[in-house]
Amino acid sequence: MKELKYLTIKEAVEKGDTEVNLRGWVYRERKSNKFIFIVLRDGSDIIQCVIPKSKNPKLFEIAETLTIESSIQISGTLKEDDRAPTGYEVSVDNLEIVQIAEPFPITEYQSPELLYDNRHLWLRSRKLNAILKIRHTIVGAIHKFFRDHGYYEFDAPIFQPSMSEGGSTLFEVKYYKDKVYLSQSWQLYAEAGIFSLGKIYNMGPTFRAEKSKTSRHLSEFWMAEMEAAWMELDEVTEVAKDEIRFIIQEVLKDNRKELEVLERDISLLEKYEKAEYPTIKYSEVLDILNKKYDMKVPWGKDLRTNEEAKIAEHYKVPVVVTHYPTEIMGFYKPPSTENPQEALCFDMLAPEGYCEIIGGSERSLQVENMKERLRAEGENPETYSWYFDLRRYGSVPHSGYGVGVERVISWICGLDNIKDAIPFPRTMLRKSP
Ligand code: 4AD
Ligand code: MG
Repeated sequence: MKELKYLTIKEAVEKGDTEVNLRGWVYRERKSNKFIFIVLRDGSDIIQCVIPKSKNPKLFEIAETLTIESSIQISGTLKEDDRAPTGYEVSVDNLEIVQIAEPFPITEYQSPELLYDNRHLWLRSRKLNAILKIRHTIVGAIHKFFRDHGYYEFDAPIFQPSMSEGGSTLFEVKYYKDKVYLSQSWQLYAEAGIFSLGKIYNMGPTFRAEKSKTSRHLSEFWMAEMEAAWMELDEVTEVAKDEIRFIIQEVLKDNRKELEVLERDISLLEKYEKAEYPTIKYSEVLDILNKKYDMKVPWGKDLRTNEEAKIAEHYKVPVVVTHYPTEIMGFYKPPSTENPQEALCFDMLAPEGYCEIIGGSERSLQVENMKERLRAEGENPETYSWYFDLRRYGSVPHSGYGVGVERVISWICGLDNIKDAIPFPRTMLRKSP
């Protein structure tokens, strides 16, 4: 190799150096009698490399042994070339093989199941590489958004003694001689945290034993949550809208190339970045669905996926729906004073069929009402006595919400299935690799 520092493909192209050392993996290769073309891949990008037989027959012989995913180091001359897939090409002067890869189990046309079985290898694909880079931007944007707005990062336990989002989706774990559950939400602990820090946020793994096999549910997913003292419903919904617009803004700034790899319609994201998102009540949603779309949804039922999809498509931008029926909401979502049938809560629904991406609410301050609702769910209110303490020592109005990180990634990337929004998906039917 030349006496040069190794650059990533991206760095080499940006610097426009002519003499380069690169290392990576063989993504594609094409051999003829006179030339060998390799598409070299590293974490940053891909680049075409050419080895003409006439220039160095010995090198040509070495390159003939290369297989897909072999690891190599090369030195050569970089130049612009319109015919190359990314507009640049390296004419190779030297090539060292680090390892010749065994025949790669993934070829061009594969069943989705084979790709999930080989997820540890499929992560190298252009598609997954692009999604993982967008995921990186989105996670960074969420931290930046909250930190820039004066929120402190606050951690809650993953092992929890009780439920927050309904007992039916709890994962039970052996805990010494006892049992606990994996976290369904950071929220109840966050409600303790705000009395110390005021405004807090977190992003962490979240677990739900979802029995439904849909393209929108994972058993292990990441939720980004916030909680703030003194905040009421009309304010918290605006924070949620700002957060989503900020996430989209960051992706448009950093990931145009990846969005192109995924063939995402960028003009739609540009629209969502700038748009006002409407806030409407559940009862108004029913009016629209029933009058305009002839859908016959009775008051009191939770919205189903097709109903959520319809209302988001009606507006063609994310929609915040508030005041769902109290009866079907979690014990901590307070009945409104004007109409106790309606709870002070909201969901944000994304367009293009992606539906619920955020759930949140004001938090109930009525201890007796919460105890009653817990009992109705078969819970023992005693387990929550620490939570009710928060209503005894300087209780204040407060609100919060949780963003489904993979739901947002799926929507922004335009994915068919949420499983592709996380490196190693966990669902009812998949727990390996
Ligand atoms: O609506 P959820 O259940 O709300 C809560 O857990 C609240 N305690 C959050 C809070 O107020 N701090 O979940 C929040 C979001 C949903 O809107 C959805 O985007 C996502 O989490 N989500 C899932 N994502 C993937 N797979 C699943 N099984 C999910 N369940 C919820
Ligand atoms: Mg929800």
